Amino acid sequence: MTPTPLSPDRRQILQGSLSLAAAGTLARLSAAAQSTPIGSPPALSPSAVAVRISLVAAPSSASILPGVSTQVWRYTGQVRSFHSGALQPIPGSHLGPVLRFQQGDRAQITVTNLIGEDHVVHWHGLDVPSDMDGHPRHQFPHGSSTTYDFPVLNRAGTYWYHSHADMRTGFQAYKGLAGPLVVSDAQEQALALPRGQFDVPLVLQDASFDTAGQLAYSPLNMQNGFLGTTQLVNGKANATLNVATRAYRLRIVNGATSRVYKLAWSDGTPMVVIGNDGGLLAAPSLRPYVTLSPGERAEVWADFRQHAVGSQVVLRSLPFSGVSMGQGAQLDLLTVQVTQSQPETLQLPATLSTIQAYVPQQATNYGNPRSFAISFSPGIGFTLNGGTFQMTGVAANEIVRRDTLEHVRITNTTGMMVVGHPIHFHGRQFQVLGRSVASANLAGWQTLSQGFIDEGWKDTVLVMPGETIDLLVRYSSYTGLFLYHCHNLVHEDMGMMRNLRIDP
Ligand code: C2O
Ligand code: CU
Ligand code: CU
Repeated sequence: MTPTPLSPDRRQILQGSLSLAAAGTLARLSAAAQSTPIGSPPALSPSAVAVRISLVAAPSSASILPGVSTQVWRYTGQVRSFHSGALQPIPGSHLGPVLRFQQGDRAQITVTNLIGEDHVVHWHGLDVPSDMDGHPRHQFPHGSSTTYDFPVLNRAGTYWYHSHADMRTGFQAYKGLAGPLVVSDAQEQALALPRGQFDVPLVLQDASFDTAGQLAYSPLNMQNGFLGTTQLVNGKANATLNVATRAYRLRIVNGATSRVYKLAWSDGTPMVVIGNDGGLLAAPSLRPYVTLSPGERAEVWADFRQHAVGSQVVLRSLPFSGVSMGQGAQLDLLTVQVTQSQPETLQLPATLSTIQAYVPQQATNYGNPRSFAISFSPGIGFTLNGGTFQMTGVAANEIVRRDTLEHVRITNTTGMMVVGHPIHFHGRQFQVLGRSVASANLAGWQTLSQGFIDEGWKDTVLVMPGETIDLLVRYSSYTGLFLYHCHNLVHEDMGMMRNLRIDP
């Protein structure tokens, strides 16, 4: 593994105490030099339906805490073609509207930046051309717009979109620049799953507030990142969801900066997981709890037909250990109140989708994985593959061939400060081949391991302290630079991110 030199401006930031103001200034300076127009649209089949959406990112206010007006940043959306269903605001929330596409659509999304600093949007989980992927080299200044134009290739699933600005991703997403993106396809539509008002996105975040009720993005620290004191669901504290005695499809997105959740129902009902990062599982998976790290998604079938009208059940995060010193307290997230009786005929389908498992031996390097180490160095911070982010830099082992199936390994076994990191790859969903953990870290690992939804398609995995995770990934057909990084957004903004270059 070749250690990669640090870029000089990162080193300055990391050696001092983390100053967001300084980070912002540097981001603006570097962006002014690098603001480049987004490249030509990808080749599309002539029949692709163009779904045109505009999103304006701008300051706004929201009622996050009851009776308090909090300054936020908000994506306001409008549909510019005749697809009125393509945009679904989350009621009462300052988060971005749910964007809904059919597999095969052509997405044409124009984003206007009015936030007063550089911005760029990433379509998390989607397989899009390098120029459309929201790489920080494509960030664009206040007062300008960019159009993202790509075919929606992914299968049905819960994806999401959020800021990916250089060293400002965490802050911008925290201020509200994030929202769900839902893809549907023919196989999914053939299933009798809850739809419409029974298909509910739940974006989990945490926040802290100053005495005036304004968002505070501190304290930040190297180990934990940012852990807010207040739990939010869809941008609301003390969130409630009123339900009927029906079955619901809950699409849960961990949109928090740094927090890992161990999701469970307060009445001990198992979590019925039907989907994860890359869409529906092959079959429902019953778990005592679901471990969801930043960036990951879980779709849960929640059946309230046996619940009495007037009763309630809480979606909470159970205690755990092992991720980092600050994480693992029990937290109540969402109170579900059963408010009305309605007949329900839906039954949980026994099979949900077809997932073709990769054959490990078909990976071109099976048994000799492409390995990326997580580590920590004093004065530098957390590193990935021996280095920190360089805008366009790639190391020798970060150059891969498109469409190639590879065995990839991520290790989290060295360095002075070993904590859990959610590692995310842009560009392609992958399969988890296996995990192993050092015996010294086993006890903490076991407080979360029954909640790892490793079946199906993934784009983000929580790599626990002492853990090694093996993946099978077939790289995108698109060539160019794609990011891989820690989705603890404080770690990402501090440079725990690298480029992977996909070559023809
Ligand atoms: Cu959701 Cu590169 O991130
Ligand atoms: Cu992503
Ligand atoms: Cu990290």
